[in-house]
Amino acid sequence: MSQRFDFDPVRIPQPADPYPLYRRLREEHPLYQVSESGVYCLSRHRDISFALRHPEIFSSEAMRTVLMSPDQTRVKWRDFPTLARFLFQARVNPLRMSDRRKGLVESDPPEHDALRSIVNRGFTPRRIGEWELRAKEIVSQCMSRIDEDQPFDVMQELAIPLPVTVIAEMLGVEPDRKQDFKRWGDAVVAASTGQGREAGLAALLAPMGELRAYLRGVIRSRQQQPAHDLISVLLERRSEGALDEEQLFGFIMLLLIAGNETTTNLIGNTTLALLAHPEQLDLLHREPHHLPALVEEALRYDSPVQSLFRQTTREVEVSGGTIPAGAPVALLMGSANRDDEIYHDPDRFDVTRNSPGHLAFGFGVHFCLGASLARLEAKVALEALIPALRNRRAAGGATEWVDSFTVRGPRALWLEPAPSPIV
Ligand code: HEM
Repeated sequence: MSQRFDFDPVRIPQPADPYPLYRRLREEHPLYQVSESGVYCLSRHRDISFALRHPEIFSSEAMRTVLMSPDQTRVKWRDFPTLARFLFQARVNPLRMSDRRKGLVESDPPEHDALRSIVNRGFTPRRIGEWELRAKEIVSQCMSRIDEDQPFDVMQELAIPLPVTVIAEMLGVEPDRKQDFKRWGDAVVAASTGQGREAGLAALLAPMGELRAYLRGVIRSRQQQPAHDLISVLLERRSEGALDEEQLFGFIMLLLIAGNETTTNLIGNTTLALLAHPEQLDLLHREPHHLPALVEEALRYDSPVQSLFRQTTREVEVSGGTIPAGAPVALLMGSANRDDEIYHDPDRFDVTRNSPGHLAFGFGVHFCLGASLARLEAKVALEALIPALRNRRAAGGATEWVDSFTVRGPRALWLEPAPSPIV
């Protein structure tokens, strides 16, 4: 008889190594229901691909209802002063808050398609390709600040500043405010998927109020003088009536947050994987053409986004069981990417495996808008970092992970000079 199994996709913190648990889920409980919350968990690659391919059965509405838990959306008396300040800053009519039009991530087709086509314009392969040179300049500035003989934190020196600078410049907001963007992004991740959930509405409202007040100024200035940036593109669509004000704010916030946290963690997770697999680091030194494959393997091996949420629109059969209509479902992509039905020896980190099909960027209609930008940034960052890793080792202590049940990456990653080259 199998031991009692205990897993909850929204438990904080998630285990430092969730992969043995995922394996048990796939093998013993491919359709698992958390007893307290009723959330269903899917862990197999084929079930998660199925769910992502069928938004008419697995609605993205849950990206709002699960991530913004009932506790979070319920206003507590102690939150009222913060709420009032937020509403004032945001000029939001509280009576309209519940019937606001949905944002990109939480909407389903056909509403989603219209929103997606608006932002797609800023992310065409040609537009993203234009950022390669700039990404290289930013990386070389970051690397030039590193002293060869001193320890440094990969996250602070490279993995955080690169994506935040790129997305700030793309949007046309001041890169000098990057500390603020990072702080606002961290607050949203923690308030929706980390310890901040406990703190209630206030934890989210204060930083959101600051961000909106800042964006309001930027938008006003672009209205007066459009520029060659994403905010100006979005404003054009707003004036055509394609977006309401809430959706415009929502987009900008989404890009600032989605464009930062995830790519930062990809660079961090890849560095961790290389430090743990010196033979792969050695291979990359000798054969740098494996670099794009390294990024794909790192996305598969230790996915920066471990889970997504959906809500069933009708009863559905999955993995021999039934999920009723209206049920919240967690899609554990971190697990799907280690499924041995798809990957041979899935727990091995191998940059030569050349097996596409990972779900780290999602799949289907919501497939990550920034995937090619993230790939480009990670490739440029790692190209510069790999030579430095040769003479370095991780400075002691267990990895401390980002405060989130869905975003996965190291909070800090200190490297110190090694007495002799590792590879
Ligand atoms: C390694 C880096 C990244 C990872 C792992 C990642 C992961 C994901 C995933 C899993 C989704 C699917 C969400 C869903 O199905 O509900 C998604 C959507 C999205 N991502 Fe990314 N992302 C990354 C980088 C970026 C970047 C750099 C940007 C923008 C600059 C971005 C913008 C978006 C947006 C706007 C969506 C929503 C798309 C939609 O709903 O149609 N992401 N991302």
